[in-house]
Amino acid sequence: MADPVHGPVIELGDAADPRVDVYSRLTDAALRRRQDTVHGIYLAESSQVVRRALAAGHHPRSFFLAHRYLDSMADVFAAHPQVPVYTGTDAVLESITGFHLHRGALAAMDRPAPRTLDEVLTGARRVAVLENVSDHTNLGAIFRSAAGLGVDAILISPECADPLYRRSIRVSMGTVFGVPWARVGEADGRGRTAWPEALHGLRAQGFAVAALELSDTAVDLDSPALRDHDRLALVMGAEGPGVTAEALAACDLHVKIPMAAGVDSLNVAAASAVAFWELRPRA
Ligand SMILES: C[S@@+](CC[C@H](N)C(=O)[O-])C[C@H]1O[C@@H](n2cnc3c(N)ncnc32)[C@H](O)[C@@H]1O
Repeated sequence: MADPVHGPVIELGDAADPRVDVYSRLTDAALRRRQDTVHGIYLAESSQVVRRALAAGHHPRSFFLAHRYLDSMADVFAAHPQVPVYTGTDAVLESITGFHLHRGALAAMDRPAPRTLDEVLTGARRVAVLENVSDHTNLGAIFRSAAGLGVDAILISPECADPLYRRSIRVSMGTVFGVPWARVGEADGRGRTAWPEALHGLRAQGFAVAALELSDTAVDLDSPALRDHDRLALVMGAEGPGVTAEALAACDLHVKIPMAAGVDSLNVAAASAVAFWELRPRA
């Protein structure tokens, strides 16, 4: 049915409707990664995140939401009259997605074209580099801190989680749409990865490359000399392994947040927030 306010609203009567395959089995992260990449989409989850994605200029392929949220998103549908709006009872929608939809709308969005390293580094003074951060919650939290604490760009290594996976987006509060990011060091046609060699490219662009890690040679985060760097890239590692030995060797220096009371380390997202604030450009 066509509606002047809601655009084409389509009532789903059947959980097996092939038109909404992109919303199926959303709780299976590995399956989603494959599907989303093949179909060139990502899923925006919650009405607020959908609005932020649209505000960032991303293009919706369809909307998916329970009856009770239709009115609150009427302005969005009116602005995208050609985009189908799939709706249904909670029971039908939940049997498709695999979880209770209590945050409003979902939207299948076109994945934006990947940005190049040069694009994200233009004008940047503070850059976070994430090595193998595979946890979507940590990734989203780091993006949120980066956005809120003035980090200009984020680079992610080949094994890092997807910033556009729905959990990363949600935890980031949509800041993954605003902070420029790029994946670096991916394998070339012959299967050779350029990670962590990609860090040398940063140095070539005038960045001091610092590993945020509790290594034996690490200087304290509040060392005055750290503030002298006009361009600084901060490399962070995954829970458990931390920054790899190869990446540590490719860095100019190591920086640590001194720990108290016998605590070994901070969660990587917590460490990122402390470091982003302390290492912000002062002039
Ligand atoms: C949980 S830590 C990994 C800790 C590592 N397995 C260890 O025991 O040394 C994950 C990441 O958070 C950052 N991190 C956490 N606590 C830190 C601290 N006190 N100083 C510097 N970096 C820290 C580092 O980037 C690290 O790679």
